[in-house]
Amino acid sequence: MNVHESEKLAGILEDKGYVLSEKLEDADVVVFNTCCIRESAETHAYGNIGALKKLKKAKKSLIVAVGGCMTEQVGAKEKLKNTFPFVDIIFGANNPNEFKFLLENKLKLVHDEKDDRESFVRTSFPNAWINIVYGCNNFCSYCIVPYVKGRERSRSENAIMQEVDTVINQGYKEITLLGQNVNSYGKDTGTSFCELLEKICTTYKDSKFRLRFMSNHPKDITEELIKVIAKYPNIICPYIHFPLQSGSTDILRKMNRKYTKENYLDKIDLIRKYIPDCSISTDIIVGFPGETDFDYQETIDVVNKVKFSGAFTFVYSKRSGTVAAEMDNQISKEVKKQRITNLVALQNSITKESTKIYLGKEVEILVEGYDEKRNLYLGRDVYNRMGYFPCEEDLIGQFVTIKVDRVNGVSLFGELIRR
Ligand code: 5AD
Ligand code: SF4
Repeated sequence: MNVHESEKLAGILEDKGYVLSEKLEDADVVVFNTCCIRESAETHAYGNIGALKKLKKAKKSLIVAVGGCMTEQVGAKEKLKNTFPFVDIIFGANNPNEFKFLLENKLKLVHDEKDDRESFVRTSFPNAWINIVYGCNNFCSYCIVPYVKGRERSRSENAIMQEVDTVINQGYKEITLLGQNVNSYGKDTGTSFCELLEKICTTYKDSKFRLRFMSNHPKDITEELIKVIAKYPNIICPYIHFPLQSGSTDILRKMNRKYTKENYLDKIDLIRKYIPDCSISTDIIVGFPGETDFDYQETIDVVNKVKFSGAFTFVYSKRSGTVAAEMDNQISKEVKKQRITNLVALQNSITKESTKIYLGKEVEILVEGYDEKRNLYLGRDVYNRMGYFPCEEDLIGQFVTIKVDRVNGVSLFGELIRR
């Protein structure tokens, strides 16, 4: 989502005639698009902004802008101004045009409201990101997102369909629909995520492209949605990002997740009933306040049972203003470290096992880029696995088939056999 927000900021700059500079020292404008979901993200941002002080001193004309989620926290704008007096523009996370307006002010340009359309520079051909719903209403007790991104706002179906049309006509081959909780799409506008998926799949049934979406909320994924995914195997990828957060029903309740361990496992069964080959990835937090060894083992139990194709694992990070930040029994650093280390080791062994079955198989991948270090082209299969292969010709944006002859961790290596 942040990558796509940055594409929008880049679009505003391009409209003003700026081009991307290769070297920081050459830049006339530096924009930080920050994240505050965990403390480590904020620490990074603070470090990187601070590092610009010298450059700004040497080059007075440099414009430094800081925006995104970090600035939306209570008191954050003042804190940033005080800590970094050399920053010229501080903007929020919910309207890229705010950045545009402030930049125009700084450059003393006249603002034309008619021109407040969304323009962006897509940087990830052949993958296009499309926002469908902004904000979040869920207030998971650990999470700062609802505070910095505001309430759920669905984009109109028309606007989304127009964007889908544009990217398909431009030759993009993979579309990822984005929302903090895509399953909430349309609740505020009288439509639904299932309807949107159906509409895209029927309108573009003759085009060759892949459709993905993220993230889902386990409480909201329905049998109807799973059936829609299964109904369009040539378009919708058999891949679902399905954030578990914790395997303990007790912790899930404290997290305000509104499902139990059993509900979660039942939904996994439902997904596999309709889409037996579905690849399921997840997000897990360890060290939530009050997490006992038993709670942690419940998470391990789910990981062992489900066999996720991949997991983003996080150590709980206290976010001020959230409900969990005020909870008793915050977990010590040592325990958190032990738990994350064990969890990562377990998931790695599961991922490794699941990669082995690819050996000798033919897989269709969408070529996305070139790995300069390996001297290989790379792309992903429908299950979101990365495949690498050698080739003399630039095949970025094409579907090709490789035969896998080596695997390493999550990656597949092979020879190009068809295109
Ligand atoms: N601490 C650790 N991880 C968090 N996430 C969200 N908030 C926190 C937090 N305070 C994780 C969740 C979410 C992912 C995007 O980030 O797992 O799904
Ligand atoms: Fe945060 Fe929960 Fe909303 Fe996801 S669903 S953004 S974890 S509050």
